[in-house]
Parts: sequence; structure tokens; C-alpha cells
Amino acid sequence: MRQPIIAGNWKMYKTVQESVDFVRQLLPRIEPFGSVERVVCPTFLAVYPVAEALRGTALKVGAQNVAAVKEGAYTSQVSPAMLQGVVEYVIIGHSEARKFLHETDAEINAKIKAALEYGLKPILAVGESLEQNQAGETQAFVSGQVRAALQGISAEQMANIVIAYEPIWAIGTGKNASGEVANAIISGAVRATVAELYGSAVAGALRIQYGGSVKPDNMAEYMSQPDIDGALVGGASLKVDDFTRLVEAAAQAKGA
Ligand code: PGA
Repeated sequence: MRQPIIAGNWKMYKTVQESVDFVRQLLPRIEPFGSVERVVCPTFLAVYPVAEALRGTALKVGAQNVAAVKEGAYTSQVSPAMLQGVVEYVIIGHSEARKFLHETDAEINAKIKAALEYGLKPILAVGESLEQNQAGETQAFVSGQVRAALQGISAEQMANIVIAYEPIWAIGTGKNASGEVANAIISGAVRATVAELYGSAVAGALRIQYGGSVKPDNMAEYMSQPDIDGALVGGASLKVDDFTRLVEAAAQAKGA
């Protein structure tokens, strides 16, 4: 069985102090739900103090991006070598990074390779725009993003990757995709593409999250779908109560 994974993407929210206070409050609340893998992704500034505060606990830390090279003249960037030993996960290809930082599929592919080389586990985010969705291009576009991001990645390396399907029109809008719709894309465009590339055993073991306006009240709807293994959550991951309820719903839905 695939272990459910809930990752909180804090985007550009919370100061260092707020981030550390948050995880200290969250830890005891989510303790009963050890069957679910739980990750928080603070801003770069807060990644290290949060990781220190969580050392030895079951709440894991992720970064929100990573550079594709070890070091160099790349003002503003943070390298995988710097994140190694500090975080376990790193979000790569989030639609906001694709949009505001103009990240291309080729750069995202290079970042995934670099992250894996330094022992970081990528959470690869993919998803279509509203226009693509309305034009009926979702399956083909998402499948293409998955293919491009995974070029040159081996079947063994796939064990360390999580994919998050996040329709752009659902992110931060309150307009979430229904559980059924999300499951259809996750199954038909993400898992099916991975099966084509690596075979059904690798595809069957891959954990795939849904993301986009996930809230405590709709979490069970996603987790009851056969191909959805968790969620990448923005807004609702910023509150201790909501985060706790997300994890609880995931644990209950998967019978854990
Ligand atoms: P949201 O963000 O939950 O606030 O819609 C999701 C994400 O961007 O990962």
C-alpha cells in the first residue's frame, strides 16, 4: 500500500519565529496519525530553524525550490548541496515558480536530477491552466509535463519522487477539482504516463498528490479516490487546526 503524504506548502507566508512556533504547536496534534507522512515546506529563511526544531521528530521538512547546480554565480538561488541533510523533500515545478520564475520543463528536469543526486526527494508539481482545461487539453498537457520532467530519470530513482497534480485554476481560488475529476487525471495522465515510461510496478508504487484548494472539509473526498495518495496544500496548511484535520482525514480515509 502507498503511504499517504500530506505536504504543507507555506509559500511566502510566516516569519522564522512564526514558522518555528507553528511546528511546535502542530507536532503534538498530529502525533496520533503516524500512518500518514507529514511534511512542512517553509520559506528558505525558515527551513533551517524549522528543521532544527523538528530534528528527531516524525514531521518532515521540505524546501519550496532548489537550484539545478551545486554552487556558482547564481544570485538568490539555493543549491541542493546546501539543502542536503537539512530537508528531506523539495517542491519542484510548482506553477508559481513556473510562472513567476519562468521555469521551463528542461530546467525542472535538471532540478529533479540535481535534487536526486544530493539525496533530496522531489515533489514534482504539474497541472494545466484554465484555458487548457477548457480547451480539453488537460490529459495531453499534464502527460507531456510528466514526460519532460522525468527525462533521464531511472526506474530506481522513481522510488524517491512524489508527483503532485495541481490544476492551476484550482490553486488558491477555492475552486477545487472534484475528487472524481482529479482522480481521472491522476490516473489517466500521471500514473498512466509513468506506467508507459517505467512499467506498471513503478507506476503502482508512485505516490501522487492532488493540490488546489484542498481544505479539511474536502480532504476525505480526495483520499477516498483510488489513485490519490495525499495532498499538496497551501492555504489550509497555514493553520494548526486545519493542518491537523487534513492529516486526520487522510489517516481515516485510508483506514490507517
Ligand atoms: P492552495 O495551494 O491549497 O492554497 O490552493 C496549493 C499549492 O499551491 O500547492
